[in-house]
Amino acid sequence: MYQKYLKHRAFQLISEITQETGEQAYVIGGYVRDLLLKRPSKDIDVVVVGDGMRLAKKLAARMGNLKVSLFKNFGTAMLKYKGLEFEFVGARKESYQRNSRKPIVKAGSLFDDQYRRDFTINALGISLNRDTYGELLDPFSGLKHLSEKLIITPADPEITFSDDPLRMMRAIRFATQLNFQIDKNVLEAIKNQKHRLEIVSYERILTEFNKIMMTEKPSVGIKLLETTGLLAVFFPELDALKGVEIRDGMQHKDNFLHTIKVVDNICEHTDNMWLRWAALLHDIGKAPTKRFSKQGWTFHGHDFVGSKMVLELFRRMKLPLNQNMKYVKKLVLLHLRPIVLSQDIVTDSAVRRLIFDAGNDVDDLMTLCEADITSKNDQKVKMYLTNFKIVRRKIKEIEEKDAIRNFQPPVSGDLIMETFGIKPSREIGLIKDAIKNAILDGLIRNNLEEAFQFMLQEAKKLGLKPVD
Ligand code: CTP
Repeated sequence: MYQKYLKHRAFQLISEITQETGEQAYVIGGYVRDLLLKRPSKDIDVVVVGDGMRLAKKLAARMGNLKVSLFKNFGTAMLKYKGLEFEFVGARKESYQRNSRKPIVKAGSLFDDQYRRDFTINALGISLNRDTYGELLDPFSGLKHLSEKLIITPADPEITFSDDPLRMMRAIRFATQLNFQIDKNVLEAIKNQKHRLEIVSYERILTEFNKIMMTEKPSVGIKLLETTGLLAVFFPELDALKGVEIRDGMQHKDNFLHTIKVVDNICEHTDNMWLRWAALLHDIGKAPTKRFSKQGWTFHGHDFVGSKMVLELFRRMKLPLNQNMKYVKKLVLLHLRPIVLSQDIVTDSAVRRLIFDAGNDVDDLMTLCEADITSKNDQKVKMYLTNFKIVRRKIKEIEEKDAIRNFQPPVSGDLIMETFGIKPSREIGLIKDAIKNAILDGLIRNNLEEAFQFMLQEAKKLGLKPVD
């Protein structure tokens, strides 16, 4: 019995109302699953054998005239109370058409409603009715599957996924989030139905994918996406990284396995989803740039090609082409820079250029580069990490001396024109560039005084004289 979970006043009021109307109501789905798993959850779904909208309105009135949002198209009603979100829906029976995710909905029993749900662990109900208050309704052994850590469907999985292909993503998302196994037949059904994902919008696919990305170990889910074939359907660029080729006894690493390891690594250091995405895409340019020559395998320019692919990929996946895209693109473009830097003597000028190019994202870039070390050679790992530490320290030191991060040219174009009495021209660009480079190379410091003197010297070389 689960009465102890139903202390909230809203549950007791629902019970009162259904007693009066002769209807039945049950808490169902994710909230019950999370309750039993002791995971926090704020979305409470209530299924009503009767009129869900009417029940919601009555409840809202009794809780002090709360606002109810009605979604007539879906036949659902929602109300918010102190950070909780209650959603009411009539128990339903669904049947699907072949080419659409939109079901034909008919009223049904509680059992019908549970049977149409995605997984047994999401089909558990707890009664809110007076005579059975707190009783668990579990016709598909969801409780057992929770304890066995198993993702399995109430109905034939081929039908479950064909009806609503997003559920294939959900299966893998839950397996990753909860650290559950997917039942063998369910996994087989995903493989068979993977092409049905093509009718699902990118928005919905990415909602699930991003939930995988926000777990502790996204590699688990991404690997499942790969083995089931879903990855190739919605993310072919990532799928293309997999595999190892050997020629003349020379082989390259499996860039897919490397990538997902880098994602796991970065997850230990950041919850920033877009930095996790940068890790996911950092080597995306390796598939199209792969070449074999006498020296072995190369991926020349994969940073540049990869950064171009970020834009195309965001466009294809209908992600907004905003700051997040630019951020990921920039990190992909720059991801080799600190490595190259750390292999050499770390000069101030190289660090200044790195700060200049990365701007405020320089710390995130370092986090990405540290995550990118997946070598099994301890010696190498140690060397890289030590060098990156030096780079980080230098970044800090230089930051304290020069304001390079958000570089603003200390001498403006207007000042150059005024000083030499010239109109907008090529020379202005040349002088500004020379000043910028002098600052980045440490010849002068980033201030007006030194930049002005330097400008005078440069202008002289171009045959310009200051006007009196
Ligand atoms: N559901 C389903 N098929 C879907 C989506 C949802 O059967 N494609 C059912 C499941 O019973 C699920 C419930 O609707 O538990 C609520 O769905 P949702 O709020 O999307 O997910 P939760 O299971 O609550 O999980 P989370 O909050 O982690 O998204």
